[in-house]
Amino acid sequence: MGRFNDKVVLVTGGNRNTGLYITEKFVREGATVFMCGSTPGSTAKGEAMLHDMGVTGFRAIPCDVSNIQQVTNLFDIIEREAGTLDILVNNAAHQGIGKPFVDMSPDYVKEVFSVNVIGGFQVTQMAVNRFFLKQQSRGCVVFLSSNTAQRAIRNRTAYCASKGAINSMVRALALDLGPLGIRVNACAPGYIYTERWDKLSEEVKTRRRMNCPLRHEAKGSDIANVVAFLAGSDSSNMSGEIITCDAGCSCQHMPEDVDM
Ligand SMILES: NC(=O)c1ccc[n+]([C@@H]2O[C@H](COP(=O)([O-])OP(=O)(O)OC[C@H]3O[C@@H](n4cnc5c(N)ncnc54)[C@H](OP(=O)(O)O)[C@@H]3O)[C@@H](O)[C@H]2O)c1
Repeated sequence: MGRFNDKVVLVTGGNRNTGLYITEKFVREGATVFMCGSTPGSTAKGEAMLHDMGVTGFRAIPCDVSNIQQVTNLFDIIEREAGTLDILVNNAAHQGIGKPFVDMSPDYVKEVFSVNVIGGFQVTQMAVNRFFLKQQSRGCVVFLSSNTAQRAIRNRTAYCASKGAINSMVRALALDLGPLGIRVNACAPGYIYTERWDKLSEEVKTRRRMNCPLRHEAKGSDIANVVAFLAGSDSSNMSGEIITCDAGCSCQHMPEDVDM
């Protein structure tokens, strides 16, 4: 008996990297999963990767979460095919990488916020209004935040600010939706191994690992485990929480080699 048997789950950005492992986790634990990438091509690629991993029992539907019409279409499909939704994982993100503040246009900030903040907001609102409030068992939401909401990193102002907004949104939603029986929590990762790490030199990887008290980055499956905990009955008395999963990075004032 899987932990999520009979549950219907939506994972945004579930087509690659961390989201792919979250999709895999829920499928392997018995759920019916809907996942999306932002485009038909990226979604189909993720679908093929999951099939190669022996993962079936999910539906891949492209959806740009910043586009309300596409979000509506996605929910129309979920309604038609599953008739219910129990768990929403807001994982899709614009990484906002590599723009120094002095070169960052307001339009770029809007682009990052339109995915990370507005996207998460409108997908959550549609999940709540179209499904959770109409169901006896209600539902729950898990956001992917970041430890950078608390401890910023360089040249990522828009991204860090968007993750701070997500943390505040999680707490505000917990207040508004708690009395309605809906839980809202977040996982805030630190370093996660993604395809971007494949382009890094061994020196940079080692340096990053030395930044972590536990000496290693998270695997996608480490984050999926926290997300599943927050989505499952083991966390049934938790709402408005942001669980950091960052190998201890957030504990330190400075990395070890700077301290010495
Ligand atoms: N990687 C890290 O070290 C790290 C650290 C802390 C927090 N996080 C957070 O953890 C989550 C997963 O991180 P990750 O590194 O695995 O992400 P990622 O590799 O950057 O992948 C982002 C995912 O979001 C999707 N996406 C982007 N824009 C979208 C849009 N407009 N509509 C729908 N989907 C969209 C992408 O789909 P496409 O394939 O179509 O682009 C992709 O599936 C994110 O929320 C991230 O902010 C990551």
